[in-house]
Order: sequence, then structure tokens, then C-alpha cells
Amino acid sequence: MKFVLMFTFILSSSFAFDGAKHFKQNCASCHTIGGGDKTGPDLAGLSKRRKIDWIVKFVNYPEGMISGDEEEEGYEKADEVAKKVYALYKPTMMPEQELDKKQIKAILKYIDSLKKEPKGKIATLAQTKKAVRKELRKERKEAKKLNKAQKKQK
Ligand code: HEC
Repeated sequence: MKFVLMFTFILSSSFAFDGAKHFKQNCASCHTIGGGDKTGPDLAGLSKRRKIDWIVKFVNYPEGMISGDEEEEGYEKADEVAKKVYALYKPTMMPEQELDKKQIKAILKYIDSLKKEPKGKIATLAQTKKAVRKELRKERKEAKKLNKAQKKQK
């Protein structure tokens, strides 16, 4: 009997996950899909701008991604993209969720099904990791130039 109960529990908890419902209950207070900024960024187009593994990692421990956490495997170093996103929406830091890859996929499926484009601040931020890297490199270069110019003046 115990086994049967446990089995039904496992079955219902893994199969009953409803991406749309979960989003509305746990994410919609801070995120729109195509409606622009709220406390957090518009999540329309999320599956296009971030890799699934990044999303899983971020959603489960936003602070670790934004600030880095030496004691947490996989979060030792702050993530450049997460830092940029936080810079746009601070001081609010997204609360930690407990969602596995399958569940995130269900949420992404729901977001994509609405076929919306992102609005708001997130839409102005470079959308891919590659683009963010490029942007950072440019910033560094400019800082170096400025530094040189300042040295010359002395
Ligand atoms: C209390 C408000 C709040 C809730 C609830 C919330 N978030 Fe967030 N979320 C944020 C904020 C604010 C950011 C921007 C980063 C930061 O400041 O932490 C963010 C960023 C994100 C990002 C990064 C977006 C990007 O373009 O890089 C993802 C993905 C995300 N949230 C998913 C979710 C999901 C999925 C849920 C529900 C399970 C959720 N969030 C619930 C506030 C929230």
C-alpha cells in the first residue's frame, strides 16, 4: 500500500506539471510574456536568448549566478550575462525556485506558444552570450584607451 501511494505520488508530481499554470502562479507576479518590464524582465523570446542549461541554473539560484558562490558547485564564478540582467533590474534579486530541466522546458513551451516578442529593458540588452562577451570586450578596450589617454596627459 505504501508503495502504491508513493508511486502515485511520484507519477502525479512528475506528470502533472503544468507549465502555463506554474508560470501564472509563480512567475507572472514579476514577469510578463510580451508585455514589457515588471519587477523582472519580459520573458518572451527567452528560449531564443538563453540556453536551457543557463535558464535552469539561473532560476534555481539567481544570486549564485549574479554574485558567484565559492561554496556551491557550478556557481563559483559570477555569470557575465546574469550580472548584466541584474544590473537592469536591481535591486530586486529573483527568489530561488526549485525547477528541474523538464519543468523549465514545460514553462518555455508555454512561453513560446504565445508567440510574443520581448519588450522593455531586456530587449535593449544584447541577447546572446556571444553578444554580451563582445560588448564586454569593447567596454574593456575603451577603458584601456581612456587609461592611456589619461597617462599621456600627466
Ligand atoms: C519576486 C519577483 C520574481 C519572481 C516571482 C520570479 N522572478 Fe524571474 N526574475 C526576477 C528579476 C528581478 C530578474 C532579473 C534578475 C535579478 O534582478 O535577479 C529575473 C530574471 C529571470 C530570468 C532571466 C531572464 C533573462 O532574460 O536573462 C529568468 C529566466 C527568470 N527570471 C525566470 C523566472 C521564472 C521561470 C519564474 C517562476 C518560476 C520567475 N522568474 C519568478 C524576478 C522574479
